[in-house]
Amino acid sequence: MRTASGMAVVAALAAIGTQAAVAQTPIPSEPANAVNLVDGLEGVFGTHAGFRRSGARGVCAAGEFVGNKAASAISKASAFSGKPVPVTLRFSVGGGNPNAPENGKGVRGLAAQFDLPNGEQWLMANISAPFFTAATPDAFLEARKPDPATKKPDPAKIAAAAAKYPDFKPQMEWVAKTGVPASYAAVNYWSTNAFKFTNAAGKTQFAKWMFVPVTGQEFIPDDKLATYAKVFLEDELKGRVAQIPVEFDMVLQLAQPGDPTDNATVAWPDDRKKVVAGRLKVTAVTDKSTCDGINFNPLVLPTGIEGSDDPLLAARAGSYAVSQARRLAK
Ligand code: HEM
Repeated sequence: MRTASGMAVVAALAAIGTQAAVAQTPIPSEPANAVNLVDGLEGVFGTHAGFRRSGARGVCAAGEFVGNKAASAISKASAFSGKPVPVTLRFSVGGGNPNAPENGKGVRGLAAQFDLPNGEQWLMANISAPFFTAATPDAFLEARKPDPATKKPDPAKIAAAAAKYPDFKPQMEWVAKTGVPASYAAVNYWSTNAFKFTNAAGKTQFAKWMFVPVTGQEFIPDDKLATYAKVFLEDELKGRVAQIPVEFDMVLQLAQPGDPTDNATVAWPDDRKKVVAGRLKVTAVTDKSTCDGINFNPLVLPTGIEGSDDPLLAARAGSYAVSQARRLAK
C-alpha cells in the first residue's frame, strides 16, 4: 500500500537524489556493487540517455585554484604550492532527473578537476550538505531496491526503513532547514567523506573539506519559491560571473582522534580546527563539452592526499565509471 508518508519519503528521495538512502542491514544475497548501485539510481529516477545517473542536471564552468601555503603543513599536495592551477568545474542539482526543478528543495553539487603540475589530477564531487544519507553502499542500495513486482522503489518499505534507521534524517532535516540556494555560487559545499592528508615530513592527518562562498550564502525564502522559474541556475551563474568575482574559500576541517573517518552521515563537531587551504575562482560558465565527459571520481587524488576507510569512496569510484559508460554509450 502506498501511504502518504511513504510517498513523501520517495518524493524526498527523488528530490535529494545522489545521497538519498537509509541505513539498512546488509543484503547478503545482493551486496552493493557498481552495477546494481547505478541500476538502483535508474530505478528511482528512470533512465535518461546521455545524462549522469545522479547530478543529472548541471552546468560546466572553468576556474582557477590558488593554494594557501598554510595547507602545506597538512599535505604536500602540489595544489597547495601557492601557484595557480586550472580547474574544470561542474555545478549540479542532486538526483538523476535531468528536468529537476531548480526552485525545489534538495542538494546542489560542486564537482571539480584540478589539473596539477606533472600531469597529476585531483577530482572531487561535493554536496551542499555536511552529511551524506547512507553510511555504506549496501544502505544506499537498500533504499533504491526496486520492488520485484512493480520494478519501482516501494514507498512503504522505504518509509519504514527511514523510520527505523537514523542515517537518513540529518540530511533531510538539513535540506528542509536551509532552504533552496538562490545561486550555485551562494551555498557551502562539503566533501562529506574524510580523506587522509600527508605532509612533506610524513605526518598524516584526516580531514574533510568544504567550499565556502566568499560573498556568503543566499537562500530563497520558502514563500518566494513559487515566484522562481523552474530553470534559473545556469543563467544566474552566467550573470554573476560576468559582474562580480565568484570565489570560494576551500576550508579543511581537521579530525581529532576518535572522529569517525568511515561514516559520511556523521559531521564532525564544529569546533574542530579549520584551515583555509586556498581559494577557488570561477572564471566562466563554459560549453557542456568541457565537463560532460568527465567522471569526477573522488579517488583520483594527488600525492599527499589519500582516501580514508570510508566504504562509500570505492563505491563512488565504481558507480561513477558505470554511469559514465552508460551515459556516453551511443
Ligand atoms: C554509495 C554512494 C554513492 C553512489 C552510489 C553515488 C552515485 C553517483 C553516480 C552514479 C553519479 C553520476 C556519475 C557520472 O555519471 O559521472 C554521481 C554523481 C555525483 N555524486 Fe554521487 N554517489 C554516492 C555518494 C556521493 C557522495 C558521498 C557525494 C558527496 C559528497 C556525492 C556527490 C555527487 C555529486 C556532486 C555528483 C555529480 C558530479 C558531476 O557533476 O559529475 N555522491 N553519484
